[in-house]
Amino acid sequence: MAARDLLFNLFLIGIFCINHACNQIDRDCLLSLPFDTSSPRLNWSNSLDCCHWEGISCDHSARVTHIWLPFKGLRGRLSPLLGNLTRLSHFNLSHNSFSGPLPTGIFSSLNQLEVLDLSYNQLNGDISLQFASNGSSNGLPSSIQIVDLSSNDFNGLIQYWLLQQAWNLTKLNVSHNSFTGPIPSSLCINSPFVRLLDFSSNNHNGEIPKGLEECSRLEVFRAGFNFLSGFLPEDLYGASELEEISLPSNNISGSISNSIVNLTKLINLELYDNELSGKLPMDMGKLSKLKHLLLYTNFLTGALPPSLMNCTNLVTLNLRHNFFGGDISTLNFSTLHQLTILDLWKNEFTGTLPVSLFSCKFLRAIRLASNKLGGQIRPEIVQLKFLVFLSLSYNTLTNITGAVKILAHCKTLNVLLLTGNFLNEAIPTDDSIVGFDGFKSLEYLGLTHCKLTGQIPTWLSKLKNLQVLGLSFNRITGSIPGWLSTLPRLFRLNLSDNLISGEFPKEICALPTLVSDQAPIDDSSLILSIFATVNGTFLEFSSLSNLGPWISVANNNLSGNIPIEIGRLKQLHGLNFSHNNFIGNIPDQISELTNLERLDLSGNQLFGEIPASLSRLHFLHQFSVANNNLHGAIPLGTQLQSFDASAYEGNPQLCGAPLPHECASIIGNNNDIQKDKDGLGFRWLHISTVLGFITGFLGVSIPLFFNSINRRVA
Ligand SMILES: *[C@@H]1O[C@H](CO)[C@@H](O)[C@H](O)[C@H]1NC(C)=O
Ligand SMILES: *[C@@H]1O[C@H](CO)[C@@H](O)[C@H](O)[C@H]1NC(C)=O
Ligand SMILES: *[C@@H]1O[C@H](CO)[C@@H](O)[C@H](O)[C@H]1NC(C)=O
Ligand SMILES: *[C@@H]1O[C@H](CO)[C@@H](O)[C@H](O)[C@H]1NC(C)=O
Ligand SMILES: *[C@@H]1O[C@H](CO)[C@@H](O)[C@H](O)[C@H]1NC(C)=O
Ligand SMILES: *[C@@H]1O[C@H](CO)[C@@H](O)[C@H](O)[C@H]1NC(C)=O
Ligand SMILES: *[C@@H]1O[C@H](CO)[C@@H](O)[C@H](O)[C@H]1NC(C)=O
Ligand SMILES: *[C@@H]1O[C@H](CO)[C@@H](O)[C@H](O)[C@H]1NC(C)=O
Ligand SMILES: *[C@@H]1O[C@H](CO)[C@@H](O)[C@H](O)[C@H]1NC(C)=O
Ligand SMILES: *[C@@H]1O[C@H](CO)[C@@H](O)[C@H](O)[C@H]1NC(C)=O
Ligand SMILES: *[C@@H]1O[C@H](CO)[C@@H](O)[C@H](O)[C@H]1NC(C)=O
Ligand SMILES: *[C@@H]1O[C@H](CO)[C@@H](O)[C@H](O)[C@H]1NC(C)=O
Repeated sequence: MAARDLLFNLFLIGIFCINHACNQIDRDCLLSLPFDTSSPRLNWSNSLDCCHWEGISCDHSARVTHIWLPFKGLRGRLSPLLGNLTRLSHFNLSHNSFSGPLPTGIFSSLNQLEVLDLSYNQLNGDISLQFASNGSSNGLPSSIQIVDLSSNDFNGLIQYWLLQQAWNLTKLNVSHNSFTGPIPSSLCINSPFVRLLDFSSNNHNGEIPKGLEECSRLEVFRAGFNFLSGFLPEDLYGASELEEISLPSNNISGSISNSIVNLTKLINLELYDNELSGKLPMDMGKLSKLKHLLLYTNFLTGALPPSLMNCTNLVTLNLRHNFFGGDISTLNFSTLHQLTILDLWKNEFTGTLPVSLFSCKFLRAIRLASNKLGGQIRPEIVQLKFLVFLSLSYNTLTNITGAVKILAHCKTLNVLLLTGNFLNEAIPTDDSIVGFDGFKSLEYLGLTHCKLTGQIPTWLSKLKNLQVLGLSFNRITGSIPGWLSTLPRLFRLNLSDNLISGEFPKEICALPTLVSDQAPIDDSSLILSIFATVNGTFLEFSSLSNLGPWISVANNNLSGNIPIEIGRLKQLHGLNFSHNNFIGNIPDQISELTNLERLDLSGNQLFGEIPASLSRLHFLHQFSVANNNLHGAIPLGTQLQSFDASAYEGNPQLCGAPLPHECASIIGNNNDIQKDKDGLGFRWLHISTVLGFITGFLGVSIPLFFNSINRRVA
């Protein structure tokens, strides 16, 4: 093919004397790349003059200088013949599917190369072998200015010689690969004009290199998501043009030195998820350009320096999960005019929610959960016209009546988490406490673990945008109101661990979002992720839909039958009726809940046989009917046998695998035991099972309802 083209080309040159046809050698190199030239995205074969091919430019002597082919769906390996394109200056193959290693040493002959962008491909192999030139180690040519190898699968060490001649280098991005070893030091001695260095998301270890003070032009330094250790080197603070330092998710220890205030151009400081300790620098306020201060998940201590309030451009202040303390109400936030996100979750702040915060008029998210804040919600909070997220869980706030009355006026509020406050107070039941458009935008209300007394209040029926309602671990009495089914968007309801009685209302089985797949659950991202510890694992939920459609009424005093209408809730992923007084058969209709992943009916007084149709629940992976009065054989040859025997125990008349006893030995005694049980009103409840299966939904935010003892939501 190539040979034929070549002949044809010579023929044309001969006949028509085309002067500007591209250089023969260059053309052959291009054809060898190998780009899939039959690809509809690249129609090179249509013309002979390669200088006019898509993505190619030449110099006056018809030599190829630019190969600019990002996003072309190209694949294959790069050919060693590329090294013959000796005039190549701009080479951009980003966002394709090239694979394999780079041909050894090709870059040593490309001594006019200025821009090399191979990002977003599947190139791999040891970089130090690929850049070596025939045994010697020359690295990139001295002409190089921009190197982007990011988002590939390269590995190996980035050796000092790779960039030894790169005097004019301005940008080096090797992020999102598998590079190992230390970040090369003295980079800026050889490349004094570097403005941008990105080593993030690799396997680099060792310390942050010394010599960064030589980087007098450096604006962006990123090396997050590696295994770097040691201290932040003092000379980092000498790189006075720095606008961004991003070193999250490493093992960096020590403190942040006060010299950091020399970096007056700093806009982003991201050091989260490290081992930093000590206090914040006293003069922090000199960083007047700072917009994003992300220091969460470290071991930082002490009070916030008052000068922080001189960082008047702060947009995001995220210091959660540290050991900061002091009376937060003494800080005056009113200077932070741009503040949008304030996350101080899991610290040791005392005092009350600072009133000065309510003058930060662009605030959209406040999380002060798990601190030691007291007092009441102040009416001034309604000044925050953009507030969408408020989490004050696990503090010692009081006056839930006042809180509901005030917060109902926050018209933009989507997420309100007040779990673990207002201990032993009464839920305000006065319907007029919430106006007809109160909590207008509220999607998630978390009021669990408050030991609240009273009944489920009717003002909740006005929350027409409510999607997730968590009222577990209170002392709520009365029955489940049928009007809950009038909440058009509700998909997750947790009423577990209360004192609720009566029957499970049939109306709930008509919850619009759970009945039909016509109204898909909104999966927009939350401004701040919600976290929960499940089984000791920290889980992050970035949207409400991640929580999953789910109903739990576990650990209450509900009685009566499980309504057959339950089969209508086709969108449900989890259903927990455990530890109540439900009687009757397991309705066959449960098998219509074909999306069900978790089903817990344990600890009731259900009798009859297990419907064989339950084996239709193909997604079911957590299941229990333990401690009831079921009888007969566990349906054979279905996935119902794949669950542990503990899912069935405490039903003396139940038999067959996975239970140890075979069916023949039991049949015949059925009636006696049934009678006996009814007579005594005996409630089967094995304490060991209760502990294993306490089914929480504590903070309302966990799709998993088994083993929920140690859940916390903020
Ligand atoms: C094919 O190449 C010519 C120039 O050589 C260009 O004008 C045309 O848009 C290309 N077609 C496609 C489908 O890319
Ligand atoms: C291209 O380069 C290779 C070595 O990489 C060399 O052997 C070959 O002769 C060159 N081809 C031409 C046409 O120059
Ligand atoms: C390569 O092309 C992509 C897509 O147009 C562009 O985003 C990228 O900036 C280019 N690379 C360089 C170094 O200019
Ligand atoms: C490598 O270099 C040696 C001499 O330095 C030379 O003889 C040999 O041909 C070169 N090999 C290649 C593949 O360029
Ligand atoms: C570096 O860039 C300058 C200015 O563009 C240029 O004069 C010089 O030749 C370049 N140096 C190298 C080694 O290419
Ligand atoms: C480096 O490349 C990655 C993509 O691979 C990109 O997300 C990142 O923003 C780049 N870094 C810099 C500093 O531009
Ligand atoms: C910070 O600036 C002060 C005063 O200009 C200077 O004495 C100190 O050496 C600087 N620190 C660093 C690390 O450059
Ligand atoms: C992090 O560094 C500390 C010392 O500062 C060390 O004890 C610990 O093992 C390191 N952890 C990891 C995961 O490397
Ligand atoms: C904040 O800045 C002002 C003016 O620059 C200065 O007078 C004041 O002392 C600073 N406050 C703090 C607490 O550093
Ligand atoms: C906070 O500072 C502003 C001026 O910046 C002042 O008007 C206000 O009274 C202060 N608030 C408190 C609670 O100290
Ligand atoms: C609770 O808050 C409301 C509204 O702010 C207030 O009127 C009421 O006095 C408060 N009750 C108590 C006991 O502080
Ligand atoms: C929690 O851990 C236990 C055993 O460690 C396991 O059996 C169970 O499936 C886990 N639960 C969840 C929800 O991951």
